[in-house]
Amino acid sequence: MAEAASISPKFLYDALGAHLFTALTFLPEYYPTAVEASILKQHTNEIAAAIGNKPVLIDLGAGDCKKAARLFESIKPSSYVAIDFSIDYLKEALEKLQNQYADIPMYGIGMDFSRTLKLPDSITQAPRTFFYPGSSLGNFLPTDAEALLKQIKREALGGGLLLGVDLMKEEHVLQAAYDDPLKVTAAFNLNILRSVNAIIDSNFDVSDFCHKVVVNHTKERVELYLEALRDTTVAWSGKQRAFKKGEMIHTENSHKYSIVSIQYLLNRAGFQSLKVWTDPRQYFAVIYAL
Ligand code: AVJ
Repeated sequence: MAEAASISPKFLYDALGAHLFTALTFLPEYYPTAVEASILKQHTNEIAAAIGNKPVLIDLGAGDCKKAARLFESIKPSSYVAIDFSIDYLKEALEKLQNQYADIPMYGIGMDFSRTLKLPDSITQAPRTFFYPGSSLGNFLPTDAEALLKQIKREALGGGLLLGVDLMKEEHVLQAAYDDPLKVTAAFNLNILRSVNAIIDSNFDVSDFCHKVVVNHTKERVELYLEALRDTTVAWSGKQRAFKKGEMIHTENSHKYSIVSIQYLLNRAGFQSLKVWTDPRQYFAVIYAL
Protein backbone atom coordinates (compact mmCIF):
# COMPACT_ATOMS: atom_id res chain seq x y z
CA MET A 1 0.00 0.00 0.00
CA ALA A 2 1.27 3.44 -0.90
CA GLU A 3 1.72 6.09 1.79
CA ALA A 4 -1.38 8.20 2.58
CA ALA A 5 -1.66 10.94 -0.03
CA SER A 6 -1.70 14.59 0.89
CA ILE A 7 -1.32 17.96 -0.84
CA SER A 8 -0.40 21.09 1.11
CA PRO A 9 -3.31 23.56 1.41
CA LYS A 10 -1.09 26.35 0.11
CA PHE A 11 -1.68 24.92 -3.38
CA LEU A 12 -5.39 25.73 -3.01
CA TYR A 13 -4.59 29.35 -3.83
CA ASP A 14 -3.68 29.59 -7.49
CA ALA A 15 -5.44 32.42 -9.37
CA LEU A 16 -8.76 30.56 -9.65
CA GLY A 17 -8.41 29.14 -6.14
CA ALA A 18 -7.96 32.61 -4.66
CA HIS A 19 -11.17 33.70 -6.39
CA LEU A 20 -13.05 30.58 -5.29
CA PHE A 21 -11.93 31.27 -1.73
CA THR A 22 -13.18 34.86 -1.97
CA ALA A 23 -16.46 33.49 -3.35
CA LEU A 24 -16.91 31.05 -0.47
CA THR A 25 -16.47 33.84 2.07
CA PHE A 26 -19.76 35.26 0.69
CA LEU A 27 -21.67 32.02 1.43
CA PRO A 28 -24.13 32.35 4.31
CA GLU A 29 -22.89 28.96 5.59
CA TYR A 30 -19.24 30.05 5.74
CA TYR A 31 -19.55 32.17 8.89
CA PRO A 32 -15.85 32.89 9.84
CA THR A 33 -15.23 35.86 7.51
CA ALA A 34 -18.44 37.71 8.37
CA VAL A 35 -18.28 36.98 12.09
CA GLU A 36 -14.65 38.10 12.32
CA ALA A 37 -15.49 41.31 10.43
CA SER A 38 -18.36 41.99 12.82
CA ILE A 39 -16.10 41.51 15.87
CA LEU A 40 -13.44 43.82 14.41
CA LYS A 41 -16.08 46.44 13.63
CA GLN A 42 -17.87 46.19 16.97
CA HIS A 43 -14.66 46.57 18.99
CA THR A 44 -12.60 48.84 16.72
CA ASN A 45 -11.90 51.46 19.37
CA GLU A 46 -10.84 49.00 22.07
CA ILE A 47 -8.65 47.13 19.59
CA ALA A 48 -7.00 50.34 18.37
CA ALA A 49 -6.43 51.42 21.99
CA ALA A 50 -4.83 48.07 22.84
CA ILE A 51 -2.46 48.31 19.87
CA GLY A 52 -1.50 51.90 20.59
CA ASN A 53 0.04 54.62 18.51
CA LYS A 54 0.98 54.36 14.84
CA PRO A 55 2.36 50.84 14.63
CA VAL A 56 4.19 49.25 11.72
CA LEU A 57 1.41 46.93 10.53
CA ILE A 58 2.51 43.54 9.16
CA ASP A 59 -0.22 41.62 7.36
CA LEU A 60 0.37 37.85 7.18
CA GLY A 61 -1.38 36.25 4.20
CA ALA A 62 -2.62 39.64 3.04
CA GLY A 63 -4.39 38.42 -0.13
CA ASP A 64 -6.44 41.35 -1.43
CA CYS A 65 -5.38 43.47 1.62
CA LYS A 66 -9.02 44.39 2.26
CA LYS A 67 -9.20 43.21 5.86
CA ALA A 68 -6.15 45.24 6.88
CA ALA A 69 -7.34 48.28 4.93
CA ARG A 70 -10.50 48.35 7.06
CA LEU A 71 -8.28 48.88 10.12
CA PHE A 72 -6.32 51.81 8.69
CA GLU A 73 -8.73 54.52 9.89
CA SER A 74 -8.68 53.34 13.50
CA ILE A 75 -5.14 51.94 13.84
CA LYS A 76 -3.41 54.58 11.69
CA PRO A 77 -0.33 52.53 10.84
CA SER A 78 2.96 54.37 10.25
CA SER A 79 3.67 51.86 7.47
CA TYR A 80 2.03 48.76 6.05
CA VAL A 81 3.86 45.55 5.09
CA ALA A 82 1.77 42.97 3.22
CA ILE A 83 3.12 39.43 3.03
CA ASP A 84 1.66 36.69 0.88
CA PHE A 85 2.64 33.44 -0.83
CA SER A 86 1.37 34.81 -4.17
CA ILE A 87 3.14 38.08 -5.01
CA ASP A 88 1.27 38.80 -8.28
CA TYR A 89 -2.11 39.04 -6.58
CA LEU A 90 -0.54 41.15 -3.82
CA LYS A 91 1.14 43.65 -6.16
CA GLU A 92 -2.16 44.56 -7.81
CA ALA A 93 -3.97 45.00 -4.50
CA LEU A 94 -1.15 47.10 -3.01
CA GLU A 95 -1.01 49.47 -5.96
CA LYS A 96 -4.71 50.26 -5.57
CA LEU A 97 -4.40 50.67 -1.82
CA GLN A 98 -1.35 52.95 -2.08
CA ASN A 99 -3.39 55.31 -4.29
CA GLN A 100 -6.12 55.45 -1.66
CA TYR A 101 -3.73 55.98 1.27
CA ALA A 102 -0.85 58.01 -0.13
CA ASP A 103 0.48 58.88 3.37
CA ILE A 104 1.09 55.29 4.46
CA PRO A 105 4.31 53.79 3.08
CA MET A 106 3.51 50.28 1.79
CA TYR A 107 5.67 47.27 1.03
CA GLY A 108 4.77 43.92 -0.50
CA ILE A 109 6.72 40.74 0.22
CA GLY A 110 6.18 37.45 -1.61
CA MET A 111 7.07 34.88 1.02
CA ASP A 112 6.04 31.46 2.29
CA PHE A 113 6.25 32.09 6.03
CA SER A 114 4.87 28.64 6.94
CA ARG A 115 8.37 27.36 7.73
CA THR A 116 10.37 30.45 8.67
CA LEU A 117 9.29 33.99 9.22
CA LYS A 118 12.15 36.43 8.83
CA LEU A 119 11.47 39.99 7.73
CA PRO A 120 14.04 41.80 5.59
CA ASP A 121 16.26 44.19 7.60
CA SER A 122 14.86 47.10 5.57
CA ILE A 123 11.55 46.87 7.49
CA THR A 124 11.48 49.45 10.32
CA GLN A 125 13.19 48.12 13.44
CA ALA A 126 10.49 49.46 15.78
CA PRO A 127 7.75 47.52 17.58
CA ARG A 128 5.61 45.88 14.92
CA THR A 129 1.97 44.82 15.03
CA PHE A 130 1.31 41.56 13.23
CA PHE A 131 -2.16 40.96 11.78
CA TYR A 132 -3.05 37.29 11.21
CA PRO A 133 -6.81 37.07 10.64
CA GLY A 134 -9.25 34.56 9.18
CA SER A 135 -8.18 31.60 11.32
CA SER A 136 -5.38 30.92 8.86
CA LEU A 137 -3.44 29.71 11.90
CA GLY A 138 -5.87 26.77 11.88
CA ASN A 139 -4.08 25.26 8.89
CA PHE A 140 -1.11 24.45 11.12
CA LEU A 141 -0.75 21.46 13.44
CA PRO A 142 -0.60 22.72 17.05
CA THR A 143 3.19 22.26 17.29
CA ASP A 144 3.76 24.12 14.01
CA ALA A 145 1.33 26.84 15.08
CA GLU A 146 3.32 27.30 18.27
CA ALA A 147 6.57 27.54 16.29
CA LEU A 148 5.08 30.18 13.96
CA LEU A 149 3.70 32.18 16.89
CA LYS A 150 7.14 32.12 18.54
CA GLN A 151 8.66 33.55 15.37
CA ILE A 152 5.99 36.25 15.22
CA LYS A 153 6.75 37.13 18.85
CA ARG A 154 10.45 37.44 18.02
CA GLU A 155 9.89 39.50 14.85
CA ALA A 156 7.40 41.82 16.60
CA LEU A 157 10.31 43.50 18.45
CA GLY A 158 8.14 44.18 21.48
CA GLY A 159 4.96 44.77 19.48
CA GLY A 160 1.96 42.46 19.42
CA LEU A 161 -0.25 40.21 17.34
CA LEU A 162 -3.85 40.79 16.31
CA LEU A 163 -5.09 37.26 15.66
CA GLY A 164 -8.40 35.84 14.42
CA VAL A 165 -9.22 32.21 15.22
CA ASP A 166 -12.25 30.03 14.67
CA LEU A 167 -13.80 28.35 17.72
CA MET A 168 -15.05 24.74 18.10
CA LYS A 169 -18.79 24.46 17.64
CA GLU A 170 -21.65 22.08 16.79
CA GLU A 171 -20.79 19.64 14.03
CA HIS A 172 -23.71 20.58 11.76
CA VAL A 173 -22.55 24.22 11.62
CA LEU A 174 -19.04 23.10 10.62
CA GLN A 175 -20.39 20.59 8.08
CA ALA A 176 -22.48 23.28 6.39
CA ALA A 177 -19.58 25.75 6.37
CA TYR A 178 -17.16 23.29 4.75
CA ASP A 179 -19.60 21.37 2.56
CA ASP A 180 -21.95 24.08 1.34
CA PRO A 181 -24.99 23.23 -0.81
CA LEU A 182 -23.83 25.47 -3.67
CA LYS A 183 -20.65 23.34 -3.79
CA VAL A 184 -18.33 26.35 -3.85
CA THR A 185 -16.09 24.72 -1.21
CA ALA A 186 -16.11 21.50 -3.27
CA ALA A 187 -14.90 23.48 -6.31
CA PHE A 188 -12.28 25.25 -4.15
CA ASN A 189 -10.99 21.90 -2.86
CA LEU A 190 -11.08 20.08 -6.24
CA ASN A 191 -9.26 22.97 -7.91
CA ILE A 192 -6.13 22.01 -5.95
CA LEU A 193 -5.73 19.15 -8.46
CA ARG A 194 -5.59 21.57 -11.39
CA SER A 195 -3.26 23.82 -9.43
CA VAL A 196 -0.94 20.84 -8.90
CA ASN A 197 -1.28 19.76 -12.55
CA ALA A 198 -0.06 23.21 -13.61
CA ILE A 199 2.95 23.04 -11.28
CA ILE A 200 4.24 19.48 -11.76
CA ASP A 201 2.62 18.74 -15.11
CA SER A 202 0.58 15.87 -13.68
CA ASN A 203 -2.68 14.61 -15.15
CA PHE A 204 -5.17 14.57 -12.25
CA ASP A 205 -8.69 14.38 -13.66
CA VAL A 206 -10.93 16.48 -11.41
CA SER A 207 -13.94 14.34 -12.34
CA ASP A 208 -12.28 11.27 -10.77
CA PHE A 209 -12.51 12.80 -7.28
CA CYS A 210 -15.08 14.28 -4.92
CA HIS A 211 -14.96 16.71 -2.00
CA LYS A 212 -15.11 15.13 1.45
CA VAL A 213 -15.34 16.76 4.88
CA VAL A 214 -14.60 15.07 8.20
CA VAL A 215 -15.13 16.75 11.56
CA ASN A 216 -12.41 15.24 13.76
CA HIS A 217 -13.46 15.85 17.37
CA THR A 218 -10.39 14.21 18.91
CA LYS A 219 -7.99 16.45 17.01
CA GLU A 220 -10.36 19.43 17.23
CA ARG A 221 -10.32 20.17 13.54
CA VAL A 222 -12.19 19.99 10.25
CA GLU A 223 -10.36 17.87 7.68
CA LEU A 224 -10.76 18.25 3.92
CA TYR A 225 -10.12 15.39 1.55
CA LEU A 226 -10.54 14.48 -2.10
CA GLU A 227 -11.91 10.96 -2.44
CA ALA A 228 -11.27 8.87 -5.56
CA LEU A 229 -14.58 7.97 -7.22
CA ARG A 230 -12.97 5.09 -9.15
CA ASP A 231 -9.58 3.42 -9.55
CA THR A 232 -7.31 5.87 -11.32
CA THR A 233 -3.63 6.42 -11.97
CA VAL A 234 -1.99 9.83 -12.03
CA ALA A 235 1.30 10.35 -13.88
CA TRP A 236 3.90 13.14 -13.95
CA SER A 237 7.48 13.34 -15.22
CA GLY A 238 8.12 9.60 -15.36
CA LYS A 239 6.43 8.91 -12.01
CA GLN A 240 2.97 7.59 -11.25
CA ARG A 241 0.61 7.05 -8.35
CA ALA A 242 -2.37 4.70 -8.42
CA PHE A 243 -5.48 5.55 -6.39
CA LYS A 244 -8.02 2.91 -5.38
CA LYS A 245 -11.72 3.81 -5.46
CA GLY A 246 -12.50 5.35 -2.06
CA GLU A 247 -8.89 6.36 -1.36
CA MET A 248 -8.51 9.86 0.02
CA ILE A 249 -6.06 12.69 -0.57
CA HIS A 250 -5.79 14.92 2.48
CA THR A 251 -5.79 18.59 1.41
CA GLU A 252 -6.43 20.69 4.50
CA ASN A 253 -6.75 20.79 8.28
CA SER A 254 -8.74 23.63 9.79
CA HIS A 255 -8.13 23.57 13.54
CA LYS A 256 -10.83 24.89 15.83
CA TYR A 257 -9.92 26.32 19.22
CA SER A 258 -11.53 27.11 22.52
CA ILE A 259 -10.77 30.44 24.19
CA VAL A 260 -8.69 28.48 26.72
CA SER A 261 -6.76 26.40 24.16
CA ILE A 262 -5.75 29.43 22.07
CA GLN A 263 -4.76 31.37 25.20
CA TYR A 264 -2.62 28.40 26.25
CA LEU A 265 -0.97 28.22 22.80
CA LEU A 266 -0.23 31.97 22.79
CA ASN A 267 1.19 31.81 26.32
CA ARG A 268 3.49 28.93 25.34
CA ALA A 269 4.68 31.01 22.37
CA GLY A 270 5.69 33.81 24.74
CA PHE A 271 2.69 36.14 24.60
CA GLN A 272 1.85 36.97 28.21
CA SER A 273 -0.85 39.62 27.93
CA LEU A 274 -4.01 38.72 26.00
CA LYS A 275 -7.18 40.64 25.22
CA VAL A 276 -10.04 38.59 23.74
CA TRP A 277 -13.12 39.70 21.82
CA THR A 278 -15.80 37.35 20.58
CA ASP A 279 -19.32 37.35 19.08
CA PRO A 280 -22.54 36.57 21.00
CA ARG A 281 -22.62 32.95 19.73
CA GLN A 282 -18.89 32.51 20.47
CA TYR A 283 -18.27 31.31 16.92
CA PHE A 284 -14.98 33.18 16.47
CA ALA A 285 -12.39 35.03 18.55
CA VAL A 286 -10.19 38.04 17.88
CA ILE A 287 -7.23 38.30 20.21
CA TYR A 288 -4.61 40.97 20.77
CA ALA A 289 -1.55 39.23 22.15
CA LEU A 290 1.44 41.04 23.59
C1 AVJ B 1 -8.31 30.25 5.09
C2 AVJ B 1 -7.56 28.27 6.18
C3 AVJ B 1 -8.95 29.82 7.34
O1 AVJ B 1 -9.89 26.78 7.19
O2 AVJ B 1 -11.72 27.92 7.02
C4 AVJ B 1 -12.35 27.55 3.73
C5 AVJ B 1 -9.83 27.78 4.28
N1 AVJ B 1 -11.13 25.80 3.48
N2 AVJ B 1 -13.13 26.55 3.31
C6 AVJ B 1 -10.58 27.67 6.66
C7 AVJ B 1 -11.09 27.06 3.85
C8 AVJ B 1 -12.41 25.49 3.15
C9 AVJ B 1 -9.97 28.53 5.56
N3 AVJ B 1 -8.70 29.19 6.02
